[in-house]
Amino acid sequence: MADDSLCYLNGEYLPLSSARIPVLDRGFIFGDGIYEVVPVYRKRPFRLEQHVDRLERSLAEVRIANPHTRAQWRALIERLVASSPGADLVVYLQVTRGVARRDFAFPAGVTPTVFAMISPLTRPTPAQRDTGLRAISIPDLRWLRCDIKSVSLLGAVMARQQAADQGLDEVVQHRDGRLTEGSASNIWVVKAGRVLAPPRDHLILEGIRYGFVQELCERAAIPFEARVISMDEVRGADELLLTAATREVLPIVQLDGRPVGDGRPGPVYRQLRRGYDAAIDAL
Ligand code: PDD
Repeated sequence: MADDSLCYLNGEYLPLSSARIPVLDRGFIFGDGIYEVVPVYRKRPFRLEQHVDRLERSLAEVRIANPHTRAQWRALIERLVASSPGADLVVYLQVTRGVARRDFAFPAGVTPTVFAMISPLTRPTPAQRDTGLRAISIPDLRWLRCDIKSVSLLGAVMARQQAADQGLDEVVQHRDGRLTEGSASNIWVVKAGRVLAPPRDHLILEGIRYGFVQELCERAAIPFEARVISMDEVRGADELLLTAATREVLPIVQLDGRPVGDGRPGPVYRQLRRGYDAAIDAL
């Protein structure tokens, strides 16, 4: 089906169905690029500054010059959002190294490809909020720079499909016996009233919701601890939570066919959920 929502490609605004990139774009050939996903509520981007900060960090890590100033990124996003009849949206931003003959090393003098699009934001359903998600644990087979929001996402695609094949919602990945993250989400353990998070290091993407959950915990006086979490601790969790731009915060109530805690969304989830909803309402 043709999608005629407005998108941005290399300085032009045009219908998504008309946007074209050359096949030699290094994003297509090598997955040589980075991206961002920004949720928008009632036309207002949520935590935009933090998303642009992370975009800048990803670009710097892969040594692509940032093609836009912060004000230009903001203006671009605002224009796309304004063009949509919808109020709750997802803004997708992507920058690749550009178009060049296929060679692994960086080409000289190439202009990055900049692409942005919008789509409707489907917020978590009441069933997902009230009943929770089901997940499986799998070994984390991705590369070791998961801190970069790279468009090379085959590891995440293969991981999520393993869950989908079983009719499940997400994977909980582990490396050397320690919790890393979901296929496209951060994972949190609740134990004895404390929220535990894997450390901010190269083994996970630090979600924009990572710092946000930490703030919500501080406000609600819930002890928060970022440290290495073993898979034994994951299996013994009272609650297991997931966060991501498009999923907000959701409870995982079943892992590998066994209930997490009592198998129902727990009190810490409900408290964080209230804080999340309040922050959206206050936008
Ligand atoms: N994914 N970890 C990974 C590997 C992710 O891909 C994501 C988000 C997160 C959570 O980050 P944030 O809170 O900033 O959404 C953690 C996005 C939503 C995606 O790829 O669509």
